[in-house]
Amino acid sequence: MTKTVLTGITTTGTPHLGNYVGAIRPAIVASRAANVRSFYFLADYHALVKNQNPEQARQSSLEVAATWLALGLDTDKAVFYRQSDIPEIPELMWIISSLTAKGLMNRAHAYKAAVASNQESGDRDPDKGITMALFSYPMLMAADILIFGANRVPVGKDQIQHVEMARDIAQRFNHVYGERFILPEAVVGEDVATLLGLDGRKMSKSYNNTIPLFVPPKKLRKLVMKIKTNSLTPGEPKDPDADCTVFDIYKAFATESETTAFRNRLEEGLGWGDAKQELFEYLDAHLAIARGEYDRLIADPASIEVVLQSGAKRAREQSAALMSQVRQAVGIVPLA
Ligand code: TRP
Repeated sequence: MTKTVLTGITTTGTPHLGNYVGAIRPAIVASRAANVRSFYFLADYHALVKNQNPEQARQSSLEVAATWLALGLDTDKAVFYRQSDIPEIPELMWIISSLTAKGLMNRAHAYKAAVASNQESGDRDPDKGITMALFSYPMLMAADILIFGANRVPVGKDQIQHVEMARDIAQRFNHVYGERFILPEAVVGEDVATLLGLDGRKMSKSYNNTIPLFVPPKKLRKLVMKIKTNSLTPGEPKDPDADCTVFDIYKAFATESETTAFRNRLEEGLGWGDAKQELFEYLDAHLAIARGEYDRLIADPASIEVVLQSGAKRAREQSAALMSQVRQAVGIVPLA
C-alpha cells in the first residue's frame, strides 16, 4: 500500500551542512522510493513564531525552497508546497483546537522550556514573552500532518512529542466525530548523522556555528579553517573518533573508501591545516553543481514560485477534499 510521508521545514535562516545531512538528503532519497507519496513543505507560518522581520521571512523561504530544488528534489513526484498557500491548514487548526485540552499543550517541551527559563531567571510572570503561537505550535503542526493523511512523519528527536500530540488529537477527533483522520507516526532516522558545528557543539543556527551549504568557495574555505580542533601538531596521531568535527563532516559526504583513507592519514599524523584544506576541497567539489543551480534559482525567484504554486495546487486537491469532510463531520454546513 502506498504510504504518505510528510515533513515540514521551518523557514528560519540559511540551510547549512547539518540540515543537509540530517534532513534534506534523507528526505530527497526517501521521496524517490516506490510506494510512497511524499509531501514536503515550507513551514512559513511556524517560522513567524521566532521571526518578526518580514524581509527575513521572505528571504528564508526563498533560500530554503532554492536549496531543496538545487539538491535535486523531484517535484513531479514529491508534492512540494508552502504551508501558507494551503488555507485548509489554519482552518483545521481552529477546529482541532476545539477538542484539544489546554493541558496537552501545557506539556509541550518548547513551551515548558520557555516557562522554566522564566522561572529560573526569577520572573514573576512565568509566561513572560511567550506568544500564543509558541503555545499553539503543536496544533498547527497537527493540522499540517492530519490534513494530508500522513502515515509517517520524519522528524528530529525534538519533534517526536509534537507528532505524538498530532496522533492524540486525531484519535480524539475520530472518537468524537467518527473516523476521518489517519493516525501519524514519527520516524526518526537512526542512521542519519548529526553534524557538529564550528565550535564543536551540534551544528545549529541557534548556536551561530554553522557552515551554510551554498557559499562562494572563498567563504567556504574560511569557515572550514575556523573549525575547532585540538592542539595536536602535524606528525602527532589524531583520533578521528574523539569529537573530531573535521573528520565527521568529511565522513558525512565522502564514500566509505575515501573516509577510510582520510581516517588513516589522520591517524598517521596529518596536520589540522592540511586536513581542513582537504575537507574544503572535498566539500567544494561535491557542492559545486548544486551551488550553481542554487545561485541560478535565487536569481530567478519567479521560477521557484511557479514550482510552489503547482505544488500548492496538487496539495489543495487533497486538503480541500478532507476539509469539506471535516466541516461536514462537525456540522459546519450550509443550512439548505
Ligand atoms: N516543527 C518542525 C521543526 O521545527 C517543522 C514542522 C512544521 C513539521 N510542521 C511540521 C515537521 C509537520 C513535520 C510535520 O522541525
